Amino acid sequence: MRYIVLILMATVVVACNTPEDGLLQKVEKTLVVAKTQSINMARSLADMPGRLPQTTNKEGKLETCSSGWWVSGFFPGQLWYMYEYFGDDSLKYWADLYSKRVADQQHNTGTHDVGFMIFCSYGNGYRLTGNVDYLPVIKNAATSLSTRFDPVIGCIRSWDRGDWNSQWQYAVIIDNMMNLELLEWSAEKFNKPHFAEIARTHANTTMKNHFRPDGSSYHVISYDTITGEVEHRHTAQGYSHGSAWARGQAWGLYGFTMMFRETADSAYLDQAIEIADFITGHPNLPEDKIPYWDYNVPGIPDTKRDASAGAITCSALLELQKYVNKARSEKYLNVAKKQLESLCSDAYLAEPGTNANFILKHSLGHMPNKSEVDVPLSYADYYFVEAMMRYCELSGK
Ligand code: GLY
Repeated sequence: MRYIVLILMATVVVACNTPEDGLLQKVEKTLVVAKTQSINMARSLADMPGRLPQTTNKEGKLETCSSGWWVSGFFPGQLWYMYEYFGDDSLKYWADLYSKRVADQQHNTGTHDVGFMIFCSYGNGYRLTGNVDYLPVIKNAATSLSTRFDPVIGCIRSWDRGDWNSQWQYAVIIDNMMNLELLEWSAEKFNKPHFAEIARTHANTTMKNHFRPDGSSYHVISYDTITGEVEHRHTAQGYSHGSAWARGQAWGLYGFTMMFRETADSAYLDQAIEIADFITGHPNLPEDKIPYWDYNVPGIPDTKRDASAGAITCSALLELQKYVNKARSEKYLNVAKKQLESLCSDAYLAEPGTNANFILKHSLGHMPNKSEVDVPLSYADYYFVEAMMRYCELSGK
């Protein structure tokens, strides 16, 4: 009898664990691939001072950028995540070395992207090492970002006039939600409540003006600098002004989920849920849950995917599912798991030693400009690694 009970118990355990374990094992294997690619990438750029990975060119060769390009902080951030997971001192060495390559951006007041650049690199570095030398870099970056806030408009300016479109007096893009984490964290750490006030005002203005009734968002809202009123609802990287650019929806989802974590303000949670419901219920979200580059682009399914949007969405859903009711939690987790499954498959995951040492294939930077189409991108890798680590944590690993 005792044996029958044991066999029954074992069967139940196997039945409960098999699907979970299958994905977890895939993720753990993929993290090893990510480590190989990260170290190879770090070595390949070691003798190119000041350069950081960006994408590949038409020949499939590595394209690098300087610290001033918005993606510069993602590779150092990826190395910090790798160090967090594997604990190797060599990863810490590379993460510190590549973080230092973006340090000069702490004083950059010419872009909102300083949040991406410095918080993904130095923010993770400080979180994992407690190295106090990193703190002034983070504080200076938060100060630089705060200089771009206009109290009449209630937003941080994303791009300066003429950067993309001279029509825009004061362009604010949905992506900018991502940079608020630097301000929230710094407000607390450096006892600067002003930083948090800016972040919350920016998020509130974004909630008011960026969203459509269906939960999707415009990419660019431009404001009149005298009245503070909206002057244009436009896109830069999406299919059309009225369409839902996939990465923009992902930035919004991640940004409002993060703002709920930082503030416990339920308005941010409600906004994140609206975005998540738009994405997860969208009829154009394909079976493998990796979105086309715009949810409304004509020609689906004969158009390109954006693995970066899939990775950012996946990481955000893995966080958001913790804050919502059971039915939503299951729905979000199922989509996130399907996304992980897809990204860990041959369809998106590079063979070690290929893909110019990036981890993922098939991202899309800027379709209207026909640039970075169906290529690897450093931010796709960063958020993919983050999503995998979030999944491991959720699974008790
Ligand atoms: N923040 C620019 C982009 O998502 O392409």
